[in-house]
Amino acid sequence: MLRDDSADAEEPEEEIPEAPAVPVTQPGDLWLIGDQKHRLLCADCRDPVAVARLFEGSKAAVIVTSPPYATQREYDPASGFQPVKPEDYTDWYRAVADNIASVLAPDGSYFLNIKEHAEEGQRHLYVKDLTLAHVRQWGWRFVDELCWRKTDNGVPGGWQNRFKNAWEPIFHFCRQPQIKFRAEAVSHASEDVFGYSPDNPKSRSGSGLLGCGPRAEGEGLARPSNVIEAKAEGGQGTHSVPFPKAIPEFCIRAFSDPGDVIADPFLGSGTVLVAAALLDRIGYGTELSPAYCDVVVRRVTAALDCTAVLAGANQTFEEVAAERGVPVDPPASRHTTDARSIRHKNGMPYYGPRKRKGEPQPCPR
Ligand SMILES: C[S@@+](CC[C@H](N)C(=O)[O-])C[C@H]1O[C@@H](n2cnc3c(N)ncnc32)[C@H](O)[C@@H]1O
Repeated sequence: MLRDDSADAEEPEEEIPEAPAVPVTQPGDLWLIGDQKHRLLCADCRDPVAVARLFEGSKAAVIVTSPPYATQREYDPASGFQPVKPEDYTDWYRAVADNIASVLAPDGSYFLNIKEHAEEGQRHLYVKDLTLAHVRQWGWRFVDELCWRKTDNGVPGGWQNRFKNAWEPIFHFCRQPQIKFRAEAVSHASEDVFGYSPDNPKSRSGSGLLGCGPRAEGEGLARPSNVIEAKAEGGQGTHSVPFPKAIPEFCIRAFSDPGDVIADPFLGSGTVLVAAALLDRIGYGTELSPAYCDVVVRRVTAALDCTAVLAGANQTFEEVAAERGVPVDPPASRHTTDARSIRHKNGMPYYGPRKRKGEPQPCPR
């Protein structure tokens, strides 16, 4: 029987730094982080000039993002962000999707995490419109819809006609049929694997499954499903809605190689940059709010134990803070920064639910 020591262990939460009242970052600042590899631009990701400046001709293997959920949040009002009405959302997002298309590698993958809210007892349909627009108007291929199942089971509520939400979709888009796919990087060792071969001519669905005989084919690597199990990270720091690092980690591992560029146009607290950096990829991203950019700089420099340098000025974050007369808080503790990376089971990445010490377990049925 397989034992899963690492997955059962209690893991400390990663501490996300608080957003400062007076940020060091100013709009237009480009921070080069950790040997100047990772790039963070304080700008509007709908602006093609800003996106071209961030990328400087590079292409991303994976773009993974969670944009504003229409009118559900205000984020940092000082950034000029205006919540977008559901009925305007697809039009607003078009510039984002165009800019993503301009910097995604031809065999790259783009993952979009967004879920519509409900109003007056009905879910909005704007995310459906958005998904359709990607394919029918903007030239994207729709690879799959992954499910992020929230292992903390969602926020309870007593709605009159529905139950609490405990999952969110992650839409996977690409530009061409052949994409970079590293299934083995997220597969796990199993004693009971199906046999399949991509060359099996009898498999019309493309699954490559060999025959329909007995299921067990012995030991090998079993692929995960398209359900990612991860706890929601809500309420961390003063950025209200970071997604769990397990989401970008899965997408990065499965669809890119070390050294590839990974990007997020809506960086928020910088989860994608941290995940990319810790997986030996190069993280790029934009964030509209100068205060959240400070959070990203402090979070990534703490995770990598490195410095951030302002492009063009060749000054560190601390030197820029001093020059601008802004107090800079000490970086977040390094001891908990890798807390939510991928766990391993028998030497392989493991995406199953986390058990936490002292937490009541569900009643067996
Ligand atoms: C849902 S949050 C992203 C959270 C992020 N995934 C994380 O883990 O922290 C959306 C972010 O997009 C930022 N934002 C909103 N409009 C933007 C724009 N036009 N360009 C860049 N960032 C924007 C907001 O300030 C907010 O931080």
